[in-house]
Amino acid sequence: MDTIVPADAIARLKSVVGPKGVVEGADAEPYFHEQRGLYRGAALAVLRPAATEEVAQLVAICAEARLPVYPQGGNTGLSGGAVAGKDGVLINLGRMNRVRALDALNFTITAEAGCVLAELQRAAEAADRLFPLSLGAEGSCQIGGNLSTNAGGINVLRYGNARELALGLEVVLPDGRVWNGLRGLRKNNTGYDLKQLFIGAEGTLGVITAATLKLFPRPREVETALVGLKRVEDVMELFARARAATGDQLTGFELIPRIGIDNVVQHGQGFHDPLAARHPWYALVEISTSRSGANLRAALEALLAVAMAANLVQDGTIAESEAQRRELWRIRAGVAELQEKLGGSIKHDVSVPVSKVAEFIVRGSTAVGARLPGIRPYPFGHVGDGNIHFNLMQPAGADKSVYLKRWAEFNRIVHDIVVSLGGSISAEHGIGLMRRDELAHYAAPLELEMMRRVKAALDPDGIMNPGKVL
Ligand code: FAD
Ligand code: MLT
Ligand code: ZN
Repeated sequence: MDTIVPADAIARLKSVVGPKGVVEGADAEPYFHEQRGLYRGAALAVLRPAATEEVAQLVAICAEARLPVYPQGGNTGLSGGAVAGKDGVLINLGRMNRVRALDALNFTITAEAGCVLAELQRAAEAADRLFPLSLGAEGSCQIGGNLSTNAGGINVLRYGNARELALGLEVVLPDGRVWNGLRGLRKNNTGYDLKQLFIGAEGTLGVITAATLKLFPRPREVETALVGLKRVEDVMELFARARAATGDQLTGFELIPRIGIDNVVQHGQGFHDPLAARHPWYALVEISTSRSGANLRAALEALLAVAMAANLVQDGTIAESEAQRRELWRIRAGVAELQEKLGGSIKHDVSVPVSKVAEFIVRGSTAVGARLPGIRPYPFGHVGDGNIHFNLMQPAGADKSVYLKRWAEFNRIVHDIVVSLGGSISAEHGIGLMRRDELAHYAAPLELEMMRRVKAALDPDGIMNPGKVL
C-alpha cells in the first residue's frame, strides 16, 4: 500500500466534512481543553462529521495514512481520554446529534453518538418514558462518550451503568468499515457480544456512531431525603436498611461529607446548612416508582423513623416539593463542582464492595493523614454502588503545585488499600491518560495480555486513540 503524505491526507479529510465540519484557529481551543486542567490537547485537524458515512471515510483515510484518530464527545471526561495529540486528527461527534427512532412499545431509543445526554432524556420523557442515565455533566456530555466511558452517575443503583443500558451499537472500525449492531433485543445469544468491547473502550477500538438504548417507565412518585449521621458505618447501615425496606424503589444513595457541605455553603451561591446541627456525614436518599398511589412518602418516613429510633440517623429533611428536591440535589452537585475551591485536589474514583466502603474510607483517611498531616480527605459519591470519589484536598495554606507533585504517591497509598479490599482503581471515570500507569501496575498480567490482544486484533496499526488505557 502506498503511504500518502499527511498534508494530502488532511486536505482529503477536510473535503469529506466540508467547511461546516472543520474547526480552526481560536475556535478549536475548547476541543483541546481538558476538564481537570492536567493535560492540553492538540491536533493536525479538528473535524466534525455530520453522518456515519463521513466518519467511515475519515477513519479510512486515517488508516491509509497511519494517522492517529482521537474521538471526542462532549469533552467532559475526567481521565484525559479525549485529549488529542498533535500527530493526529480529532473527530468530534457533536454534529451527529439526531434521535433516529423511539420505539415506545419496545422501550427503546436509537440515537446518534453526538446526542447530548440531557436531550436524550428529554426525548424519552416526551414519549412518557425514562432514560435513566444521569450525571452532573448531562447538559454537555454525549451518549457516545457515555458509552465509551461506561458512565455511571446517580441512578446506577437502580438502573445500571451505561453498559447495562445499551442494547446495540453502530461502530466505525479502525479500518473505516461500519459495523451495524443496532439491535433492540433483550435476548440475543448469537455468539460473542461484540458491542461490549466498544463500551468502556474509551475510543481505543473504534468510533461509536449510534446506539440503541433501553427505556423504562417514567417515575410517577419520587421521594428524596437528606439525613445527617455520626459515622460512615451508620451511613452504610442505613443503606442496607433502605435497600431491604424499599427494594427496587431505592434509586439513589449518595454520600456527602461535612467538608463538602462546608465547601458549598462557603463557596457556592445561595446555599445554607441543610440541617439545624452539623453532622460528620450526610446521605442523600431517593426512592421512586412508576406506580401512582404507591405512597412512597409513608415508606420513607417509616424508614427514617426506625433509623432515628435506633440512633442511626441523627436528623433529616424530606423534600416537600420538586423545588426542594432539586435544591437537595444542587447541594450534591455543588459538592463535586466546587472541589477546586479548596485548592489542589488529588483524585481517586474507586469502588469497593459495598460492605467494605466504611472500612475503606476510615483506612484511607488514616493512611493519607499519616503521610501528610493536614491533608483533607473529601470522600463523596455513589456509595450505594460502592463507588467513592476519594479526593484529597491539599492542607489549608499549602503550596498547590508542590502538593500536586505528590499525586502518584497518594494514588499508590489509596489504590493499595482499594485493591487489598477487592476493589477497582477506576469505578466510573475510566482509565484515559490519568490512570494508565496505575492500570499497568495493578491489572493482572493475563488481563493486560488479553486487552492487548483485543486491541491488536481490532486495531493492528494502533491508530485509535493511541496512548490511552493501555
Ligand atoms: P468525552 O470526554 O468527549 O470522551 C470520553 C472518552 O470517550 C474519551 O476517551 C473519548 O476518546 C471517548 N469517546 C467519546 N465519544 C466517543 C465515540 N463516539 N466513540 C468512541 N469513543 C468516544 N462520569 C460518571 O461516570 N459519573 C458521574 O457522575 C459523572 N459526573 C460528572 C460531573 C461533572 C461535572 C463532569 C464534568 C464530569 C462527570 N463525569 C461523570 C465524567 C464524564 O461526564 C463522563 O465520563 C461522560 O460519560 C463523558 O462523556 P463525553 O461525551 O463528555 O466524552
Ligand atoms: C460526581 O459523582 O459528581 C462525579 O463523578 C464528578 C466528580 O467526581 O468530580
Ligand atoms: Zn461520580
